[in-house]
Amino acid sequence: MAFVVTENCIKCKFTDCVDVCPVDCFHQGPNFLVIDPDECIDCTLCEPECPANAIFAEDEVPEGQENFIALNAELSKLWPVITEVTKPLAEADEWNGKEGKLELLER
Ligand code: SF4
Ligand code: F3S
Repeated sequence: MAFVVTENCIKCKFTDCVDVCPVDCFHQGPNFLVIDPDECIDCTLCEPECPANAIFAEDEVPEGQENFIALNAELSKLWPVITEVTKPLAEADEWNGKEGKLELLER
């Protein structure tokens, strides 16, 4: 199993999650982060750190967001690792909680 970043990270990217990951398995795209499922050790530390509540255990991903499991696996192979907290995206607070953000994902 692994933990999965889901839709509410898109256009927020608070990055608090990367600070606690002991195995540096977060990868960063322009407006979204993903977890490499081959590196995640299921430590659970990142889940409560996300201000957007975007991180779930693979078997607890909300209904309708199951496609994010494959998306994390795919994009983590393409995007660079991020290990340090950065500033959230400019309008992160406005986008936090909005639905239908998948189509705004930049690759
Ligand atoms: Fe990293 Fe642990 Fe979160 Fe997996 S569960 S991404 S190992 S902090
Ligand atoms: Fe995204 Fe939450 Fe991390 S918004 S960058 S998963 S802290």
